Amino acid sequence: MPASPENPAAPSPLREKTRPDFDSGEPALRIVDLFSGCGGLTLGAAQAANHAGLALDIRLAVDFEQAAVDVYKENFPKANAVMAPVEDYFDGELSDEITETEVKTRESAGKTHLLFGGPPCQGHSDLNNRTRRDDPKNKLYLKMARAARVLEPSIVLIENVPAVRLDTAGVVKTTFDYLEQLGYEVATATVGIHALGVAQKRRRHVLLASNVDSVDPKKILADLASRADDAAFNLEWAIGDLRSLANPDGYDSPPKASPANVKRMEYLQASGDFDLPNSLRPKCHQDGNHSYKSMYGRLKWTDPAQTITSGFGSIGQGRYMHPGAVRALTAHEAARIQGFPDYFTFGSVTKRADLATMIGNAVPPALMREVGAAVIPSLGVQQDEVSLKIEESTAQTELALVG
Ligand SMILES: C[S@@+](CC[C@H](N)C(=O)[O-])C[C@H]1O[C@@H](n2cnc3c(N)ncnc32)[C@H](O)[C@@H]1O
Repeated sequence: MPASPENPAAPSPLREKTRPDFDSGEPALRIVDLFSGCGGLTLGAAQAANHAGLALDIRLAVDFEQAAVDVYKENFPKANAVMAPVEDYFDGELSDEITETEVKTRESAGKTHLLFGGPPCQGHSDLNNRTRRDDPKNKLYLKMARAARVLEPSIVLIENVPAVRLDTAGVVKTTFDYLEQLGYEVATATVGIHALGVAQKRRRHVLLASNVDSVDPKKILADLASRADDAAFNLEWAIGDLRSLANPDGYDSPPKASPANVKRMEYLQASGDFDLPNSLRPKCHQDGNHSYKSMYGRLKWTDPAQTITSGFGSIGQGRYMHPGAVRALTAHEAARIQGFPDYFTFGSVTKRADLATMIGNAVPPALMREVGAAVIPSLGVQQDEVSLKIEESTAQTELALVG
């Protein structure tokens, strides 16, 4: 799908302020998003559906953080988005029969084309030590497999950090094998997000499963993983227009930096350097052998950013100094670097920390947009719409006869 300025003079689609009409029309792509956060994966599905001329019908989106669910609802007002633990909807273990709760979940979701989710991944992150790979949260990955059993969707996508493969409980392998037993074709790959049209170097682990004959997950992931980085997707493209805003509000104003970090940024700005010399780092980083080169660093207009985490507002958390100003990134810039266009709103968020967490946690929409573009033509959404209508009218006729 086009994300790139084929014509480099064209303005970045990230500046688009008018939200496409994702909700109306028929037929509709029916999706379920678990651990949905603010909706990065859903936005990608919406963009792919819109591009294919389909509406988006969000049968269920679940996250247990109220602030994230509020943003999700703001952007997808027709969605059945709920604030709850995913376990409240899928309460069985992999080996269990389908529970009463799960029967209800299946009945209310109905026919599902795409099931996707990004279960929490702190425990898998390379930024954490090995012991955290045992984190019980990692088992939430298996809830995606359980949800596939309950909902029987055509396609399943599970997104996570690359280190999820090293999880000591083997959640990826268990899920892979389980989905195969259910009759899905399954593949995994690590995909570079920059090559998908995002101004960010970030790698994500993707498990893709399909029970549609003409969809080959292996081929789709191999295609995504082999795409070449495109230098056009740099910070100038993503945030160049946000250099000087007349009236910056919370979304456009950086958090206040400590006096020590202001001094560090002033040095980088005046010297033109991108890496802070050891002498200006905190004492514990001064021995010359540290592995924190990017910490306290300045970004370059001509490059993509490093991975955006919830720490993007402080240069002590990574290379987050703005390329041309004595400040860290704003939430607006971080959202753009994650691939959220301006029509996606975070207006309901009242706390800076909530905003930073949900933007840092989000999956760049480009991932689901590109996978969506590859699978949607084979899903037979039109035929499904017709059969749903027949089922509905048969049910109504039966009701009338009973009545
Ligand atoms: C990596 S983020 C998901 C990002 C999201 N897919 C997106 O694209 O924006 C993980 C999310 O899981 C949520 N979460 C963690 N444990 C949960 C649970 N047991 N039930 C529901 N949500 C949970 C967190 O609140 C967080 O928003």
